Amino acid sequence: MKKNKIFLACDSNNVHRIKKIIRDSKCDEFFIGYKFGLEFINSKNGRKFISNLKNEIIFGDYKLHDIPNTCASTIKSVRDLKFDYITIHISSGINALKAAKKISGKTKIVGVTILTSLDNNALKEIGFNKDVKKLVLHQAKLASKANLDAIVCSAQEVKIVKKVFKKEIITPGIRFNSMANDQKRTLTPKLAYRNGADWLVIGRNITKGNVKKNIKKLIDHLSK
Ligand code: C5P
Repeated sequence: MKKNKIFLACDSNNVHRIKKIIRDSKCDEFFIGYKFGLEFINSKNGRKFISNLKNEIIFGDYKLHDIPNTCASTIKSVRDLKFDYITIHISSGINALKAAKKISGKTKIVGVTILTSLDNNALKEIGFNKDVKKLVLHQAKLASKANLDAIVCSAQEVKIVKKVFKKEIITPGIRFNSMANDQKRTLTPKLAYRNGADWLVIGRNITKGNVKKNIKKLIDHLSK
């Protein structure tokens, strides 16, 4: 049977903590990749640690949001880290997406839609006049036009995205229960896979506390 795929969000500024998360998450049940975001990459020893990782699927969650030249140059400047995936906000615009894609080589370029920490009220506050679902659909079309390799969206929007974007779909905002923390558009692992997500991004629900126990909890949840 095909294994469910997970990116573990390695959000810490402590190399020892990240080493332990990686060690304790090894299991036969899942295909696990490791996602490094701004917190770890910018920590004192983060970049070096990533550069020494071998035989892992690694995801650089840079969430680039800049002009085309800066997005492309940044991807070039982390080429030595050999990321399998790098993120860029789709709201950087089609030219930035195309520039990122052009320079990316073997690294998959992942377009980030509206953050899972935002809801319709927050969007209105920022000044957007479309609702979340319409905006995400709109952005998925743009990602498709720029020939991006994957999309990050809420698991609640997978079915919408799938209508216009035919490659990998990666969903953060995963919660085993109703404790959402700062996330707004959440879904359980089971429902996220059921909706058609290719990869789930899971952070705190696995990395906070005992990683081995939390993985077991996830296995139990999926088998029910
Ligand atoms: O701890 P939690 O499971 O909420 O972590 C989610 C991870 O996914 C974080 O590393 C966060 O930066 C990232 N992410 C997200 N929403 C997005 C894109 C990435 O939560 N839209």
